[in-house]
Amino acid sequence: MSLSGKKILIAISGGIAAYKVHFLIRDFVKKGAEVQVIMTPDAEHFVTKLSISTLSKKPVYTEFYSDNGTWNSHVEMALWADVMVVAPCTANTLSKMVHGMCNNLVIATYMSAKCPVFIAPAMDLDMYVHPSTKKNLEQAESFGHIIIPAENGELASGLIGQGRMSEPGTIAKTVEDFFNSNIEKTLAGKTILITAGPTYEAIDPVRFIGNHSSGKMGFSLAEEASKRGAKVILISGPSSQVIDDKNVTLHKVTSAKEMLSKVFEFYDTIDIGIASAAVADYAPKEVAKEKIKKNDDNLTIELVKNPDILKTMGEKKTHQFLVGFALETQNEEENAKGKLAKKNLDMIVLNSLRDEGAGFKNDTNKIKIFTPTEKKEFNLKSKDDVAKDILDFVESQLLK
Ligand code: PMT
Repeated sequence: MSLSGKKILIAISGGIAAYKVHFLIRDFVKKGAEVQVIMTPDAEHFVTKLSISTLSKKPVYTEFYSDNGTWNSHVEMALWADVMVVAPCTANTLSKMVHGMCNNLVIATYMSAKCPVFIAPAMDLDMYVHPSTKKNLEQAESFGHIIIPAENGELASGLIGQGRMSEPGTIAKTVEDFFNSNIEKTLAGKTILITAGPTYEAIDPVRFIGNHSSGKMGFSLAEEASKRGAKVILISGPSSQVIDDKNVTLHKVTSAKEMLSKVFEFYDTIDIGIASAAVADYAPKEVAKEKIKKNDDNLTIELVKNPDILKTMGEKKTHQFLVGFALETQNEEENAKGKLAKKNLDMIVLNSLRDEGAGFKNDTNKIKIFTPTEKKEFNLKSKDDVAKDILDFVESQLLK
């Protein structure tokens, strides 16, 4: 989740585009951000606190005081936020921001904020092109705020032109790009190949042997490596994970054999290989051409060993730094260390199905890292944070 742990303060002002903020909040929350929403009193004419708080999972504030006599501290909210997003930002709110007209909770919070501020203006055509709006936007930009310009299209008045608030996806992407650009590019110039997800080994046209890997661990690694400036080749078995990142090239495969041949298309060109895929160790010897019919009480399928992709990578290693995973259920450390040596790896990441929240499908994982001489243990964390730990460790090894 690309916004994992980020604190986003959204300020909604009173315009018809406020309805689009539902999608923005949902997107931010889905990507792991914590979202606090405040609204101007006028915004309540366009969206309800209930719908917004349902999506943001936090109470929504419009006033300095709540009915139960508590104080909604604009200072606390402002200092809590990593970024503030004013969307939609009406001509009225923009003008108040620029001139410091502090007569509601949104403006008081804005004026207390030290974090970067994003402004998504939305207003009717003539208001948007009015010299005073232009001047206010320029002024806001000169404060260091990031303006997400309004788009062209049909406006609530029926007029056609610029003034529509930017689409939620565009606003979310601008904020995400901002967070990513602040990350130190410690892997710039490196090419990293990551395998992810399960492999499916066909039995017949409708059935396969597979496993529970979702691909989450591998996709988190790919995202984090990209944020650090690496060129990422992500080779994934069947997975519902998606990635939209210009530094990541995704290659979809199905079986272990396909994964092997895709890996070796690139192997010579990579600096680092990370094998997080759960590759099926065996595949049916024969794949039935037609669907196998239900006849006898027992059915025997002969299995043959699949190629060990990572072992082959280890055998052919010249300059590549190789990281394996070990998914264990017993004698965990011993087995992981055995794989580290047998597959000629530089490092192995152990996760055990005996640890709650670790391994397949979960959004979390709990790992131990081994090199031939070192061991480091980590707490249960989100897979995004585990990816950070793994890449921090890889970087520390590369510096040696
Ligand atoms: O995808 P998720 O739901 O997020 O789950 C993540 C995960 C649990 C799949 C991941 O963290 C993980 O542990 N991946 C490795 C799973 C596995 O197959 O482990 P293994 O101990 O069987 O294999 C050891 C290593 O050899 C792995 O790096 C594996 O990719 C590799 N291997 C194994 C067999 C094979 N034929 N070829 C291989 O390359």
